[in-house]
Amino acid sequence: MLFRELNRGKCKTYLVACEKTRRAALIDPLRENTNRYIAILAYEGLRLDFGIDTHTHADHRTGVFDLSDLTGAKVVMNRRAPQPHVQIHVDQGDTLDLGGLKLRVLHTPGHTPDGIAVHVEDRVFTGDTILIRGTGRADFAGGDAGAQYDSITKRIFALPDETLIFPAHDYRGNTQSSVGAEKTANPRVAGRTREQYVDLMANLGLALPEKIQEVLQPNQCEIDDDRIHFPSLAELNQVRQMSPAEVDVARRSSSPPLLLDVREPEEWNGELGHIAGSVLIPLKELPTRASEIESAKHGHVIAICRAGVRSTTAAAILTGLGFEHVSNLKGGMVDWNDQGLGVEREGAPAH
Ligand SMILES: [Fe+2]
Repeated sequence: MLFRELNRGKCKTYLVACEKTRRAALIDPLRENTNRYIAILAYEGLRLDFGIDTHTHADHRTGVFDLSDLTGAKVVMNRRAPQPHVQIHVDQGDTLDLGGLKLRVLHTPGHTPDGIAVHVEDRVFTGDTILIRGTGRADFAGGDAGAQYDSITKRIFALPDETLIFPAHDYRGNTQSSVGAEKTANPRVAGRTREQYVDLMANLGLALPEKIQEVLQPNQCEIDDDRIHFPSLAELNQVRQMSPAEVDVARRSSSPPLLLDVREPEEWNGELGHIAGSVLIPLKELPTRASEIESAKHGHVIAICRAGVRSTTAAAILTGLGFEHVSNLKGGMVDWNDQGLGVEREGAPAH
């Protein structure tokens, strides 16, 4: 296996390749370093098969989409990743063949709902689920400290003790650790119960990353448009969340809500389908096309997308435009499908 860390900074990007077949994957590439990655791939005579993001990043713009455009590599993320243009959705237990190497995927939610770790031979790439002598924060972007504790103790720590750990970040100059070392010496996890971990993580008092919305929103929505004013975190937190079961009851009531799907047109009849009777206005067109649903301004609107993230942004935008009663389908079409609620996969959108 050919292996290198390519950034030499606090954000880590890993190159993994099969020496024999020259097939390569980049894990957590930074957009600003795209040219550097293309150069190193060419220098080493490698062909990029996969651009893998271990989760939706809040501190840097992802490079996976530019790399995919330039090289034809497939973008790989967890099925709960909000992004519309992920080409391979992976989940717990899935494997990817990289020449003679097998990449094994662990679903490790907690830092974000779409967290994965990638296990290959003697090492595991843990994203921000577990860091060297630390863990990634769990207080924004759908974080859940309890889920993170379970991901660390039941999935990462289930690997052999000698497995090397390579995280997505390190702020102290460390380059690698191991499962055994973190089990005994990680100050956040070692000797702590789940409850103690949740309590610790709730009281870290960390400031939000600089420019979080300017980074997170394009990574979640693939919108890179100065004309769109993204809602603040406070506005997003105010969006009323409805479970799939609650949305299903509401749509069957005598005064059904307007179901507004904000995904891309190609997702409408894709793998997850759409809810019968919903209206499609992609998120990036919403600020200019909201007038099309003006008649629902005083009624109830439920925003819908793949994972419930883009639609939370849409709900906050509509509220900002004066729509009085906007909710969000929590967990999006992923949860809707997982709960066995009906979908359609045919027909053109009404808008
Ligand atoms: Fe992160």
